[in-house]
Amino acid sequence: MIAIAIDGPSGAGKSSIARSLAGQMGYVYIDTGALYRAIGLYALEHGVEPTDREKVPALLPQITLELRHRQDGQHVYLNGRDVSEEIRTPAVSMAASGVSAIPEVRAFLLELQQGIAAKQNVIMDGRDIGTVVLPGAQVKIFLTASSEERARRRYQELLAKGKDVAYEQVLADVIERDRNDSTRAIAPLRPAPDAVTVDTTGNDFEQSVSQLRSVIEEKLAAL
Ligand code: DC
Repeated sequence: MIAIAIDGPSGAGKSSIARSLAGQMGYVYIDTGALYRAIGLYALEHGVEPTDREKVPALLPQITLELRHRQDGQHVYLNGRDVSEEIRTPAVSMAASGVSAIPEVRAFLLELQQGIAAKQNVIMDGRDIGTVVLPGAQVKIFLTASSEERARRRYQELLAKGKDVAYEQVLADVIERDRNDSTRAIAPLRPAPDAVTVDTTGNDFEQSVSQLRSVIEEKLAAL
């Protein structure tokens, strides 16, 4: 099996770029953030603070997660319920960042992610795919962009969905999530030693896709 790991901070364009590449290359695209988001949503729904290191692990035995792939992309099921839309709110983003710092949550999701990659060729995006989940991935990319650019993209996405948000708030959230994700003790966001770093600041979508595709093709050709 071939695994392509794409890690990086939120808003670097990982998911849209990875989805497009997976379509072009015939790989299955796996968005691992959706799994953390589903657990964050479950905590919010049960009145549990997402950063609570005792109460969140106690919820895990009640949670079954499943990823299914349809024509329109990946869907995430939380205890049989399709939550793919609900997990995209700013509140769930923050909750996902909170639960993702809890070791039991990461252990809970590790096996699930590794099991998916064992069965098929994947492009998997997340924060620790190249470092922890798939350290043997044939291609590892660390995709990044300036925080202002990432906030601008996220802001445009939210506006397009009709959400009423302020750019300054989106930027503050991006900076806070970056800090949470890269300073946590367990599986912090950082490039794997053998990752290729790609900075998409100033690129448009097509430029980023073709830049990544060249990196991937070069790596695969050298195998
Ligand atoms: O990629 P995303 O924005 O959907 O991720 C949501 C949160 O989940 C993010 O704050 C970091 C966390 N996450 C993680 O810790 N490890 C992953 N492999 C994917 C996401």
